[in-house]
Amino acid sequence: MSKTYLVTGGAGFIGSNFIHYILERHQDILVVNVDKLTYAGNLENLKAVMDDNRYAFIQADVCDREAMVRLFEQYNIDYVVNFAAESHVDRSITDPGVFVSTNVMGTLNLLDAAKSSWMTGEDTYREGVRFLQVSTDEVYGSLGPEGFFTETTPLDPHSPYSASKASADLLVKAYGDTYKLPVNITRCSNNYGPYQFPEKLIPLMINNCLNKNSLPVYGDGMQVRDWLYVEDHCKAIDLVIRKGALGEVYNIGGHNEKPNIEIVKSIIAYVAEKLDPSIDERLIKHVTDRKGHDWRYGIDPTKIREALGWEPETMFSEGIRKTIDWYLENRQWMEHVTSGSYQQYYRSMYAGR
Ligand code: NAD
Ligand code: TYD
Repeated sequence: MSKTYLVTGGAGFIGSNFIHYILERHQDILVVNVDKLTYAGNLENLKAVMDDNRYAFIQADVCDREAMVRLFEQYNIDYVVNFAAESHVDRSITDPGVFVSTNVMGTLNLLDAAKSSWMTGEDTYREGVRFLQVSTDEVYGSLGPEGFFTETTPLDPHSPYSASKASADLLVKAYGDTYKLPVNITRCSNNYGPYQFPEKLIPLMINNCLNKNSLPVYGDGMQVRDWLYVEDHCKAIDLVIRKGALGEVYNIGGHNEKPNIEIVKSIIAYVAEKLDPSIDERLIKHVTDRKGHDWRYGIDPTKIREALGWEPETMFSEGIRKTIDWYLENRQWMEHVTSGSYQQYYRSMYAGR
C-alpha cells in the first residue's frame, strides 16, 4: 500500500542517503523532504531524484510550528522520520543554543503536528502511522574498555549535542507514554559513507589528505567509535518504521569499533595507494583534545537483530574503501561543499518551482 514519508533533514548526510535508499526499494511511496538548508543541508545530494514524481522538497524550519502543521495538512503523511538536527559535537561546544532550538523544540513541534493530524479520538490514531526519532548512542555517555550500550543503559549525555538529543528522546517517549502516539526511537553509532559534510572525522581526513593538509587528531587518538556504514543504517530505520514494535527503542551498531588513530591511518594508506604515495603519516598532527571528549562508544545491537532480523552487512574494511572511492570520484561535490557554492547554486535551481 502507498505510504507517504515525511523525512526531515533530508538534505543532510544520513537523510539524503535514506531518501535514495527508500526510493530505490519501494515503488509506491511519496517522500516529502523538509529541510531548512543550514550549512549542512545540500540539495546536490539529491540531484538524482529531484525530478522523480515520488519526491517533493520543501524548504522549512522544524522550529516553525505553523509550517509543520501546514505540512501535515498538505500531505497525507504516514511516517515521520526525524533526522533534522544540528549534529556536530564541536559546534555544540561553541554554540549550544541552536542545538536546543532545532533538536529539542523542533522535535516538539513535529510531535505536536503529527499528534493533531493523526488523532482519531482519545488516545487513538490513524491506522499505520509512525513517528521515528533518529537518535544517537551519544545519549548513553561514554564507556570504558569493557561493555556495550543496550537500550536499557541509563541516559548520561555529556556534550550539549548529546544533551539536546537525549532531551528530544525523552519528549518522544513522553508523547508515546502520555498520548499513546505511535513512536519509535533508534540510537545508532557513528555513520560513514557518501555525502557526509567534511567536518566529521572521516570525510575531513579524506579531504585533508587530498589537499595534503595536516590531519588533526584530538589528544592521543585512542578514543573509540563504533562505525556503521550509512546504507546499513538506512535499512535499519526503514525496518523499524515499518515493523518496529510500538514505543520501542532500538540500538543500531556496526560491530566495527576502532580507535580514531587507526581510522586516520587506514585513510592515509588507502588514499596513498589509490592516488599519491607521497601522502603519508607525517600529515598526522595531534591537537588539543575536545572538551569533555567521550572515550568510547560501543553498541549492543542484539535487540534489533532478534526482533527484526537486522544485521550490519558492511565490514569496515569494505565500507571505508567504498567511501573513499566515492569521495575520490566526486571531487566536485567536495569542492562545492568546502567552498560553500553548493548552497547558492541549488537554492536558485529550486527558486522557480
Ligand atoms: P547532518 O548535519 O548532515 O544533516 C542535518 C540536516 O538537518 C541538514 O540537511 C540540515 O539542513 C537540516 N536541519 C538542521 N536544522 C534544521 C531545522 N531547524 N529545520 C529543518 N532542517 C534542519 O546530520 P546527519 O549526520 O545526517 O544526522 C542526521 C540525524 O542522525 C541527526 O538527528 C543526528 O543527530 C543523527 N545521528 C547522526 C550520526 C552520524 O554519525 N552522522 C550518528 C547518530 C545519530
Ligand atoms: P566526529 O566525526 O565529530 O563524531 P562524534 O564526535 O559525534 O563521535 O568525531 C569522531 C571522533 O573523531 C571523535 O572521537 C572526535 C575525533 N575527531 C578528531 O580526532 N579530529 C577531528 O578533526 C574530528 C572532527 C574528530
